[in-house]
Amino acid sequence: MSFDNAISALSTDALKFVKDGYVLGLGSGRAATAFVKSLSLFIKSKKIQIKGVPTSLQIKLVAEEGGIPLLGADQVDHIDVVFDGADQIDSQKNLIKGGGGALLRENILINSAKKVVIMADKSKFVKYFNRPVPVEVYPLARNTVIKSIKKLKGKPKLRTLERGYPFHTENGNVILDCDFGIIKSPKTLAQKIIQIPGVMEVGIFTRRPDVIYKAKTNGKFEIIT
Ligand code: A5P
Repeated sequence: MSFDNAISALSTDALKFVKDGYVLGLGSGRAATAFVKSLSLFIKSKKIQIKGVPTSLQIKLVAEEGGIPLLGADQVDHIDVVFDGADQIDSQKNLIKGGGGALLRENILINSAKKVVIMADKSKFVKYFNRPVPVEVYPLARNTVIKSIKKLKGKPKLRTLERGYPFHTENGNVILDCDFGIIKSPKTLAQKIIQIPGVMEVGIFTRRPDVIYKAKTNGKFEIIT
């Protein structure tokens, strides 16, 4: 038994939040992928009609493969439920997102959703955030944003691919992974970062999820509401 077993089990459980006719936000990453695969089987077996709105090309490909009908984010004015993973969850249920670089679309969907369901393994749960915060930056503003992040006592690092090429988001921007050490006031920090000209999105999400699934190493999971 492993986290993967637990993620797979909770993905099936999370289907109870899916109703006929719903518009569903599809997050990105491993947990969201497990959910989308379960969703694909579910809509085929139950013959229910849903529409999925993907947050990235990564999850779009998984959804297409599963035959899930899709809409673009610009074709909907609401999301019934969004299902997504997270990179870290603090004790106040704030989230760090953006490990896969899809933070901008993820935040748009999470903030327009009636219900937010987050699925993550136990290792992601912390009292205070202690991992670098992904910050999506308009490329021409990279150096000025780096200077501003340093003024906020952060250590920014340009995200790169294996051979040193810069990582670009699907929006054509770059990511600065910014180390602030232990973050005790995430909301205040997020507000300061988002005000820097050239910052397109900050990977600190302060809208509290309605449901959080915690996957455990023994293959089981816990639901936090
Ligand atoms: C994508 O940008 C991220 O926000 C992911 O949702 C996050 O990295 C969680 O991914 P995993 O479920 O793969 O850990």
